[in-house]
Amino acid sequence: MTSPTGCPVSRDAAAFDPFGASYQLDPAEALRWSREQEPVFFSPKLGYWVVSRYDEVKAVFRDNLTFSPAIALEKLTPAPPEAVKILESYGFAMRRTMVNEDEPDHMERRRLLMDAFLPENLEKHEAWVRELVRSYMDHFIDKGRADLVEEMFREIPMTVALRFLGVPSEDAKELRKFSVAHTLNTWGRPSPEQQLKIAEDVGQFWQTAQAILDRMRDEPTGEGWMYDSIRMHHQHPDVVPESYLRSMMMAILVAAHETTAFATTNAFRILLSNRASWNDICENPTLIPSAIEECLRAAGSVVAWRRIATEDADVGGVTIPKGGKLLLVQASANRDPRHFENPDEFDIYRHNSAEHFTFGYGAHQCMGKNIARMEMRIILDEFVRRLPHIHLVEDQAFEYLPNTSFRGPTSLWVKWDPEQNPERRNR
Ligand code: HEM
Repeated sequence: MTSPTGCPVSRDAAAFDPFGASYQLDPAEALRWSREQEPVFFSPKLGYWVVSRYDEVKAVFRDNLTFSPAIALEKLTPAPPEAVKILESYGFAMRRTMVNEDEPDHMERRRLLMDAFLPENLEKHEAWVRELVRSYMDHFIDKGRADLVEEMFREIPMTVALRFLGVPSEDAKELRKFSVAHTLNTWGRPSPEQQLKIAEDVGQFWQTAQAILDRMRDEPTGEGWMYDSIRMHHQHPDVVPESYLRSMMMAILVAAHETTAFATTNAFRILLSNRASWNDICENPTLIPSAIEECLRAAGSVVAWRRIATEDADVGGVTIPKGGKLLLVQASANRDPRHFENPDEFDIYRHNSAEHFTFGYGAHQCMGKNIARMEMRIILDEFVRRLPHIHLVEDQAFEYLPNTSFRGPTSLWVKWDPEQNPERRNR
């Protein structure tokens, strides 16, 4: 078996399956062999060049001209004709947004729309995010047992995103369902039957996005990032075109929702599995921000991202032909011993955890990273104060949404003795 450049494909490369159990369970572990022996390889099962080491992943992220993000939201599993028909019936026509836009359009747009994401402009959201987190906790704090995904992690990031965007929250439940469909549609390997259901949901998502936008347009002074984008569209229609608004409405909900829900779930799982670290942040909550970076490094929620070569290019000594598609496996790069000492150890005192690639890197690095960090920080802060004595329920089975890129268990059960709740004890 040979790669598109005629080079032989190794046995491990031929066997690599991003939808197989070992990658789905632990992508970094599944690519240990690659980090050690073959950091850039062609995967015949995927039709992509896979990049697994830190320096090579960084080099590709850094050069977004040679390695275009244009395929970042391309469907990995092509839709069967029936699903295409369903999407057409909804007039589905997703265009470039931000994450998959090339230069110079991308940077012009990013600059115009960046303000609301800056840390100094996020401070005003802290108080209501904390209120929201506390109110969710109030529902289960006396129960002694909860699935944290079901009780709060799945809902909070969507609620926060909608409020940040200025979208009325009555649509939240429906939008969350659509957003999961969009993830499977883009990064999953759905069966032909699932494709039909997903196409329905994605089509409805597309129409809902337009309906919400139409409502928002009637309020020219509305507050929120989507309103800012509509105003920018009026001022700079060439930089923020009409087609962008609708596509972005869909894309950003996906960008903001599952990424953060999974990141929070993964963080709780890994912290509670490393009790000494959990106890440390309970005793000293100022450690939370650095603990979050280590969680994002060791158990990130976006584990792989895509680029396409715009010309023949070299990555780690391997020639990627023009048009070659690349899967950059951030989860693997985040465990590269060439960059992170003892990378398999979970260490909240690690000096360079924040150099992880879970938010990508370079010109397209996640615009919402500080929103995600804020949510995670506030959630952890409330837990270490109000429920420091929680434990993971033993022997629970973890399930994952089968896809290449978004990773986190679909449930996380914890238990505690409500009699020991500090607020009750200290009453
Ligand atoms: C882009 C991850 C949360 C909005 C990205 C990219 C990644 C990512 C990997 C692509 C980076 C690249 O191509 O170099 C994450 C993770 C999150 C998260 C792991 C949570 C833990 C959010 C939130 C928002 C958001 C909460 C918005 C409210 C965006 C946007 C882009 C982006 C707008 C496109 C930036 C550009 O192309 O210039 N994110 N994200 N993300 N993310 Fe996030």
